[in-house]
Amino acid sequence: MPSISEELLLPSTPGKFKDKSHAMHRQFYRCFASTSTMFLWALFLVALTASYLSFQSFVDSGNKYFSAARGGVHWEKQVKTSARVHRRNGFSVLVTGAAGFVGSHVSLSLKKRGDGVVGLDNFNNYYDPALKKARKKLLNSQNIFIVEGDVNDARMIARLFEIVPFTHVMHLAAQAGVRYAIENPHSYVHSNIAGLVTLLEACKNADPQPAIVWASSSSVYGLNEKAPFSESDRTDQPASLYAATKKAGEEITHTYNHIYGLSITGLRFFTVYGPWGRPDMAYFSFTRNILQGKPITIYRGKNRVDLARDFTYIDDIVKGCVASLDTAKKSTGSGGKKRAAAQYRIYNLGNTSPVTVPMMVGILERHLQVKAKKNAITMPGNGDVPFTHANISLARRELGYRPTTDLQTGLKKFVKWYLSYYGYNHGKSSS
Ligand SMILES: NC(=O)c1ccc[n+]([C@@H]2O[C@H](COP(=O)([O-])OP(=O)(O)OC[C@H]3O[C@@H](n4cnc5c(N)ncnc54)[C@H](O)[C@@H]3O)[C@@H](O)[C@H]2O)c1
Repeated sequence: MPSISEELLLPSTPGKFKDKSHAMHRQFYRCFASTSTMFLWALFLVALTASYLSFQSFVDSGNKYFSAARGGVHWEKQVKTSARVHRRNGFSVLVTGAAGFVGSHVSLSLKKRGDGVVGLDNFNNYYDPALKKARKKLLNSQNIFIVEGDVNDARMIARLFEIVPFTHVMHLAAQAGVRYAIENPHSYVHSNIAGLVTLLEACKNADPQPAIVWASSSSVYGLNEKAPFSESDRTDQPASLYAATKKAGEEITHTYNHIYGLSITGLRFFTVYGPWGRPDMAYFSFTRNILQGKPITIYRGKNRVDLARDFTYIDDIVKGCVASLDTAKKSTGSGGKKRAAAQYRIYNLGNTSPVTVPMMVGILERHLQVKAKKNAITMPGNGDVPFTHANISLARRELGYRPTTDLQTGLKKFVKWYLSYYGYNHGKSSS
């Protein structure tokens, strides 16, 4: 015997009416039954559409990632063309941080002598990305392609190694700058530690493995007071998070050399300056402020001692980088497996003649023919060190590194570039 509700919900035999009210009830319940069925169908359709849409967006985001990682046929062609070697026994080099100050100069220099160069940069906004884009344009004009991506993107880097069997990696991508670590500490961990490990993993897995040359920093000497700084001096007293991440990089690269046979050369750069430089650095921001009639802040150390830096001109640094690539031995592993001990080196690349910051300002004033409005204050504890001074005898001996540009000459070239790049009247330059 069907339950009432079953009976009522079941369709009646067509043409049979028990009585009027019963018929009305039946009509009502039929209507209700069909409404609820429709409601269920609607619900089903909504659920179906929602799952279709979410699946579609999953596929889309996957595709987006995939196409960013793979970049398509045109992208691959650009990578291959850029990596093409145009000299006998030339290198194919992946330059990370290629839109940066040092990276752009090194890329141009390698390309000029016939090496293949593929750049990689995430164009972050730590400083004006327009300057990075302008460097990119310059590199593009010399047929150097820069892949826009992050060194933490393992899939994309693996894809690059699939397309090009890079012989060398020049790793210059990093979160640079000492003071910014107080504002954004995680950017240092992201680029200088996590990014470094991601890149080393890709190099480890590559077959053949590339030789790696990468930028450490003079800042690893931290609170070291023994001058000049030698590679054998202690580097376990960093004065900033930036320095700590560079020091960590030295230990991490050593591990990859030890376990996987990657050939590694670490370069401790000392205050690099020159055309296309970094706007966050003192010589650059002082130039901007002096030209705009704004005051500049000059830090002084304890007992009013002037800060001093071993300023190193970009062309000298580039020569050191290229010499490091030229003298790098091959990695000894392949596809993640090590075969024999590989080369591990660290060099100072400096200028061996520190100049005080007030002296540097004096040179800028002469080249700009404008007097600076100076504010001298005691250095706050923000990670800066009182002085840097490189002993470069190891690099001289093993790389043939010989810096030739003094600060006077180098700043003259910088000022000339600055005035032209920012559209100032060239007559103001002392050149
Ligand atoms: N310029 C100096 O005086 C100096 C001194 C010591 C060490 N260094 C080191 O030399 C290297 C080059 O320095 P620079 O002066 O050319 O700095 P830069 O900031 O001009 O260049 C670094 C480039 O790396 C890119 N980058 C940063 N994080 C990235 C990431 N996660 N993925 C991809 N790209 C990323 C940036 O966009 C930038 O274009 C850095 O490793 C820096 O720490 C520089």
